Amino acid sequence: MQAVILVGGKGTRLRPLTSDRPKPIVPVADRPFLAHMLEWVARHGMTDVVLCCGFKSDAVVEVIGDGSQYGVNVTWVFEPEPRGTAGAVKMAEEHLQERFMLINGDVLTDMDLSAQIAAHERSGAVATLALVPVEDPSAYGLVRLEDDGRVRGFLEKPKLEDIDTDLISAGAYVLERRVMDMIPAGREVSIEREVWPHLVGAGLHGHVHRGAYWMDIGTPERYVQGVADVLSGAVRTATLDRLQDGPVMAGADVDPTAIVAADALVEVGARVGAGARIGSGSVVGAGASVDAGATLDHAVLLPGARVGARAELSSCVIGADATIGDAAHVKDHVIVADAAMVPAGERLPPVAVAPAEVAPAAPRPIAAD
Ligand code: GDD
Ligand code: MG
Repeated sequence: MQAVILVGGKGTRLRPLTSDRPKPIVPVADRPFLAHMLEWVARHGMTDVVLCCGFKSDAVVEVIGDGSQYGVNVTWVFEPEPRGTAGAVKMAEEHLQERFMLINGDVLTDMDLSAQIAAHERSGAVATLALVPVEDPSAYGLVRLEDDGRVRGFLEKPKLEDIDTDLISAGAYVLERRVMDMIPAGREVSIEREVWPHLVGAGLHGHVHRGAYWMDIGTPERYVQGVADVLSGAVRTATLDRLQDGPVMAGADVDPTAIVAADALVEVGARVGAGARIGSGSVVGAGASVDAGATLDHAVLLPGARVGARAELSSCVIGADATIGDAAHVKDHVIVADAAMVPAGERLPPVAVAPAEVAPAAPRPIAAD
């Protein structure tokens, strides 16, 4: 089967990580985010992939190319302006097979797509949505499901008072091509708001993926967590195969007195100094360096980043070629921009707030003409 992946979003909540690179190619552990998705669909037999792009797509094309590095064959479709989740796939109509999967390009997951496709074939549905349970469905598409798998209701971004289930649409659908006939061409169309509601009771089914890993990595907190989950194997990805022989890649220069956690990653060409500690969920990217006595815990260093001696980094992202001065602290999901400089001893985020400015005791005299 064929997979159509939507990669048009801006990823604004991950700035400055996404200021210069679109979200699909933000590195997650050891490869671009989209690479994990391509390898995932390939594992389920979908090697024919259509990528629907919009915003800053040149960089995505440059990094992903024809997809062969990730085991797929990519066809690129570009939108003149954002066409929405249904409008984007409508633009790709000439490339579509009779049955295909449509997938949101912003979730890290290992859902069993083969099982979902099998359920779709068994039920004869027009569309089968992947469903996952979440604690708070309000940011997603809420799905009310009958016991036999038919969808009884779909509510995009439900209000609190409308939430009566924990099941949401996980952003991966098996579709019959005839769904395309419901989508008007040439304008922005939302599949969530303009297609699903019409298919409720008319062939819309859901397939619940219980126990699968599923996360939208669109915020700094969830990005840091997503990287850690790739490294620990909480989500099944091809990265885990590279970590089989340990967290230090061949060609990395790690001082024998440094400690590297099993669920961390020290890349090819990275350097770790004496007594440094590279804790769980941390990545020292290609060519990045960590000086003596520095500690990292869930800290992601993009390629070429430099961390000074005795610096303390936790739950943060250090951009490519950025510099963290000696004994500086960076924590609490701070993202340091590419090539930025954090001075020695600096605390990020600041631990104290400057006192409020003292207001003038008396009103300022109004200047007479
Ligand atoms: N090509 C293209 N063009 N892609 C787009 C466009 C567009 O105009 N608009 C959105 N996308 C892509 C985004 O890049 C993302 O990968 C996907 O479509 C979904 O869009 P989001 O903007 O991230 O939507 P959301 O997260 O608020 O909600 C969607 O995903 C939830 C699961 O994460 C909905 O499908 C919800 O129903 C769902 O629960
Ligand atoms: Mg999203």
